[in-house]
Amino acid sequence: MSLWIDSVDGSESRFLPLSADFDVDVCVVGAGITGITTAYLLAKAGKRVCILERDVANCHSTGNTTAKITASHGLFYDYLLNTFSPELAKGYLDANLSAISNIKNIIDEENIECDFEFCDNFVFTNLDSEVAKIKQEVLTVQSLGFNAELVNSVSAPVDCLAAIKFPNQAQFNPLKYVNALLDKFISLGGMIFEHSKVCDVKPEGNFYLCFANDHIVTSKYVVFACAYPFVNVPGFYFLKMYQEASYIIGFRTSAKLFDGMYINSKAPIISLRTALDKNNERIVLLGGSNHKVGTDDDVSKCYSNLENLARSMYPDCEILYRWQTQDCISLDKIPYIGPFSSVWDNVYIATGFKKWGMTSSNVAANIICDSILGRVNKYSFVFKSTRFNPMKNSTEFANMLKQSASSLVLDRMRFPKEVLDSIPCNSAKIVDYSNGKFGIYKDMDGVFHAIKPYCSHLGCQLVWNDLAKTWDCPCHGSRFSFNGSSFYSPSINDLEVFIFRET
Ligand SMILES: Cc1cc2nc3c(=O)[nH]c(=O)nc-3n(C[C@H](O)[C@H](O)[C@H](O)COP(=O)(O)OP(=O)(O)OC[C@H]3O[C@@H](n4cnc5c(N)ncnc54)[C@H](O)[C@@H]3O)c2cc1C
Ligand code: FES
Repeated sequence: MSLWIDSVDGSESRFLPLSADFDVDVCVVGAGITGITTAYLLAKAGKRVCILERDVANCHSTGNTTAKITASHGLFYDYLLNTFSPELAKGYLDANLSAISNIKNIIDEENIECDFEFCDNFVFTNLDSEVAKIKQEVLTVQSLGFNAELVNSVSAPVDCLAAIKFPNQAQFNPLKYVNALLDKFISLGGMIFEHSKVCDVKPEGNFYLCFANDHIVTSKYVVFACAYPFVNVPGFYFLKMYQEASYIIGFRTSAKLFDGMYINSKAPIISLRTALDKNNERIVLLGGSNHKVGTDDDVSKCYSNLENLARSMYPDCEILYRWQTQDCISLDKIPYIGPFSSVWDNVYIATGFKKWGMTSSNVAANIICDSILGRVNKYSFVFKSTRFNPMKNSTEFANMLKQSASSLVLDRMRFPKEVLDSIPCNSAKIVDYSNGKFGIYKDMDGVFHAIKPYCSHLGCQLVWNDLAKTWDCPCHGSRFSFNGSSFYSPSINDLEVFIFRET
């Protein structure tokens, strides 16, 4: 469980499932920070809004983030300026800086207690080969009008040859913030339904029908705030986005703690901040071990690598939390915010936040609200969601094609050697059994749980994640529990399941 979920006393459901048909102005799909912020702003503007959440509000990325609120998204501005244009780079910077003030304004206006604090953000390196890039990034950000600074020492216990400092960024407890926004949304007449997975969206005349729990929500506007959208056509987001997982540990130490928030410029990623735990004691959050979902062969090391690093920084550290989550990354690294597709008027998308969704979700909520309310938003051109330019990240595009090809064709043809007896307890393998390919998990009691190991999204072969005990999809990042239930989009349907005992 994450520090944030623990700090608001667990991840239990607070809201009933959808159990009747409704008509609203706007149906928001997904109750993370994006959906809740959008719904809150629209309800404040007088719209009748309903949120449908497939699981429990904030149980995915938002409940498991690191929650740095910053416009400093790695070394990004020089890339934006050179790959796109100075206007786009400046638009991205200003949109994300405004998001910090917007969040602070909401906190002040609604009197939200969420441990918000201003602090500086640093992107640092201990590599000679990165120093020139950091220097260039400082110059670029300064040229875009922000007072970034070059520094060569920081208060965090990391080796630092150079760092770019973004002053006056912020951090908070994201769940205290979004839960308060959700309460405010409800007090404004908004509705939210949990355990209400939207399994289809269909246009009908000037309206859209969202189907969940055998009921229909009819609305003029739909907002996909569900991270990876489950509707494949139109939209075609499955061709332009993948998901990456990261791991976080939270630990206590008696040592003096650092100020600010940190991330290094080049993988393997090290991300650091401090936060208040539920006893109001300051602990350290250390993140990293990033990998594309469904592609790391040795996930067992994801936490141990972080723990070893923590011990090297703070020998007396006591690990209190371990958690993991994932986020969507577009191939050109810019979020998709705006119209979902040019053929579905009034349907919006906000995704591809590249692990910088605290500010990006606020940018998205404002762009989408402005569009629904007929207002101009000066940042919408930066995030244009109907663009299609995957070659901006040709390496990742090639990886996606390679993985799709291998998952869809080659792996299906390969004959695995494993036999049932070789599956250790509490683990799984893909085996041939009764003339078919099965993913078989053997639980602690020796009971086998067998699934067809093909993703219910677009059919890629799944990979067993022995750390989380899940079936993960290398193509677009869907995830399924050991018994085949889908819990991470874009998949909607569970896997085909067979249960039997070892003979
Ligand atoms: C390890 C890690 C660390 C991060 N750290 C930071 C950070 O320090 N700063 C920062 O800015 N960002 C950070 N991020 C990114 C940030 O957490 C995310 O971008 C942000 O939380 C995304 O919010 P969201 O509301 O769009 O998505 P989510 O929080 O994932 O919410 C989407 C919701 O939609 C629901 N849903 C999906 N499909 C359906 C459906 N069919 N019907 C109904 N509901 C559906 C899901 O159940 C989920 O609750 C981090 C991400 C990761 C992975
Ligand atoms: S997530 Fe798309 S095929 Fe699995």
